[in-house]
Amino acid sequence: MKILVTGGAGFIGSHIVEHFQGQAEVRVLDNLRSGYKHNLAGLAHEFIEASILDRDAVRRAVQGVDYIFHLAAMISVPESMAKPVECNEMNTTGTLIVLEEAAKAGVKKLVLSSSAAIYGDNPMVPKIETMLPEPKSPYAITKLDGEFYCQMFAHEGRLQTACLRYFNVFGPRQDPGSQYAAAVPIFIHRALKNEPITIYGDGEQTRDFIFVKDIAAANAHMALHPEAAGVFNVAYGGKITINELCQTICRLTGSLSEVKYAAERPGDVKHSMAAVEKIRGAGLKHHWNLPEGLKATIEYFRNNSKPEQPKT
Ligand SMILES: NC(=O)c1ccc[n+]([C@@H]2O[C@H](COP(=O)([O-])OP(=O)(O)OC[C@H]3O[C@@H](n4cnc5c(N)ncnc54)[C@H](O)[C@@H]3O)[C@@H](O)[C@H]2O)c1
Repeated sequence: MKILVTGGAGFIGSHIVEHFQGQAEVRVLDNLRSGYKHNLAGLAHEFIEASILDRDAVRRAVQGVDYIFHLAAMISVPESMAKPVECNEMNTTGTLIVLEEAAKAGVKKLVLSSSAAIYGDNPMVPKIETMLPEPKSPYAITKLDGEFYCQMFAHEGRLQTACLRYFNVFGPRQDPGSQYAAAVPIFIHRALKNEPITIYGDGEQTRDFIFVKDIAAANAHMALHPEAAGVFNVAYGGKITINELCQTICRLTGSLSEVKYAAERPGDVKHSMAAVEKIRGAGLKHHWNLPEGLKATIEYFRNNSKPEQPKT
């Protein structure tokens, strides 16, 4: 078996590469826009450094491949607001190029990384796949475009596809230093250094966090089950407040970090939780849970950063 992971040098992509070690030949197509070669250290793979917008490179990358995991994208909502045309090109045109070349090459199935962002700030919870999407950013709109293109290719019989709407993913190799970093890596990084942690708003907003190894396993499951088609939420179907998340991380790290509160960020959704019946119905079982995932992630950051001595 041979797989292609676009965006394979990124946080989630590198875990898909890891998941398939010893099971498949792995090829990665990545232009290192927000990913790093060191994310793939020690993992067997063939690396093609190119953009998904480079059709010749994509054509080469899909040759002889059975399954494609398409993750390469502009991943940040704020960046997409600042650069909507670039976002549209990377996420919509890029996905279309990958779909066209995959279909021509006779790839068996493509799994698209989509996002819960497509639900927008509809206050209804849990978010269920049949809800009317309310995308509020170029990022979310282009993820929805990708889903529709995937469904179009499947309906036309050109390529089997499945689209996974991830909720909040966390785990090893998530970048705490990027301008658009997510809460879990920032909190852990700061907690380990006993630095102040900032929570935006009152911290009572809730999220449905999922450990990255379960995201990688969900991708593999969808690829290897031809009957699983369409759009699926991927999350645990649970909820934790940002205050509880912060307290848990501080307890697990033994941190002395002070918690500060800042103004709520515009566009932040109050509650986000997934309906997970559809993906369960497709036979997916998770192997991790939130506390175990957090412990593993803290362990990773402990071994991969240099925490300072506690400030007294
Ligand atoms: N992290 C999350 O919580 C989350 C939630 C929902 C959806 N997603 C989606 O999952 C996917 C992976 O996200 P991630 O968190 O691992 O981000 P990431 O930035 O770590 O990974 C994205 C990868 O794509 C590569 N890339 C970007 N543009 C490219 C291009 N034009 N050509 C080739 N490679 C390109 C980057 O260099 C990077 O390695 C993305 O599609 C993202 O939208 C992530």
